[in-house]
Formats: sequence, C-alpha cells, structure tokens
Amino acid sequence: MKFFIDTANLDQIKEAQDLGILDGVTTNPSLMAKEGITGTNNILKHYVDICNIVDGDVSAEVISTDFDGMVREGEALADLHDQIVIKLPMIKDGVKACKYFSSKGIKTNVTLVFSPGQALLAAKAGATYVSPFIGRLDDVSTDGLNLIGEIRHIYDNYAFETQILAASIRHTMHIIDCAKLGADVMTGPLSSILGLLKHPLTDIGLEKFLADYNKGN
Ligand code: G3P
Repeated sequence: MKFFIDTANLDQIKEAQDLGILDGVTTNPSLMAKEGITGTNNILKHYVDICNIVDGDVSAEVISTDFDGMVREGEALADLHDQIVIKLPMIKDGVKACKYFSSKGIKTNVTLVFSPGQALLAAKAGATYVSPFIGRLDDVSTDGLNLIGEIRHIYDNYAFETQILAASIRHTMHIIDCAKLGADVMTGPLSSILGLLKHPLTDIGLEKFLADYNKGN
C-alpha cells in the first residue's frame, strides 16, 4: 500500500518524508488556501517546492472545468516537474481530459469520486489513480469504506490498472480498513499516519526494557 500525505504544508511533508514511508503527496485548491498559498504563480512554485522534498507522485489539481482549459492547465502543470500527476474532477470534460492525458502517457488522478460508476469511467479513461472520498461520504451517513470495496471488486473483475487512492481519510482506522479492503494507496493527514505508531503496550514495554537494562549499569 502506498502512503501519500494529503496536505500542502511543507513542514508536515518533510516530517513524513523523513520518516521514510512517504510515497507521494496529494493537494487540492482548499489545502493550498489553508496554507495561505494563493495566486497562480505562488501555487505553481509551491508544487515545485513539494516535488523537491518528496521522491514520489505529487497530484496538482486543475481548476478549469472545460476540456480545453483542463488540457492547457494540465500541460503547464506536467511541464513543471516529472513527478506531477494531473488531478482532474470527475465531470464529463474531466473524463475526456483524463483520456487525453493518459493517451499521451501523462499520469492522472481523477478526483471527487463518490460512486462505483464514476470509478468505472475513470478506469475506462485510463486514469493512473482514482480518488474516492471516503470521509465525505461518511459525513452524509453513507459508508465510504463500502465504496472502496465496490471499486476493488469492479477493478479486479476486469484487471483495470487504475490504482484506488483512498482519499478524504480522516483518521488512523480509515487507513487500516482501506488496507484490509485492498486500496492501492491512501492519502491522509500526517496525524492519521502518525496514529499508526501508537500503542500503550509499546510504550510500557519499552519503558520496562530500558529500566531493566539500567539495573545493570
Ligand atoms: O484527498 C481529498 C481530501 O483533501 C479531502 O479531504 O477531509 O476535506 O474531505 P476532506
């Protein structure tokens, strides 16, 4: 399972990278705004800064909603750095743009996916990644994890190569459950990743090992 961090915060990206378990980064316009990164030039520079910290794929989202605009923007984003993945919304022109980029060998991430049908279309269009938003489904009393299972089933039926990127992860248990269901990638906040470390028996056990070692010193 690949681990992506879902943030535009450079300190958090560095912390996850330093841990040695980071495979990539996802961002979106809201995450950029949260870090105070606004204006096209600043946003483009920020993508390059992120690429210079991590080794893996970095999703950069287009804001156009028409095919020509998405292609124009996506090509400019792809030119920024070879780690950039073009993030496209799951709308009709987004599917067309996904097909356009995948035919050219440019990586894509189809985002804002909330149903198995949308995920099927993304795979048909050759998406590298599909991003089902599990937390936002949970927010509206719909089981987000169930969607991960449905997409896994459909993709396995036809050996689609599109990777399921479980997004809108909110906490550590989401990561565990997505791993059980066979999501290829998860993207979540640093807190959800660091939560995987924690177990009180680890802390108690380590404390005792150190205390016992120190008895002889
Ligand atoms: O990866 C998608 C993510 O940024 C959305 O997360 O918590 O705003 O639903 P959230």
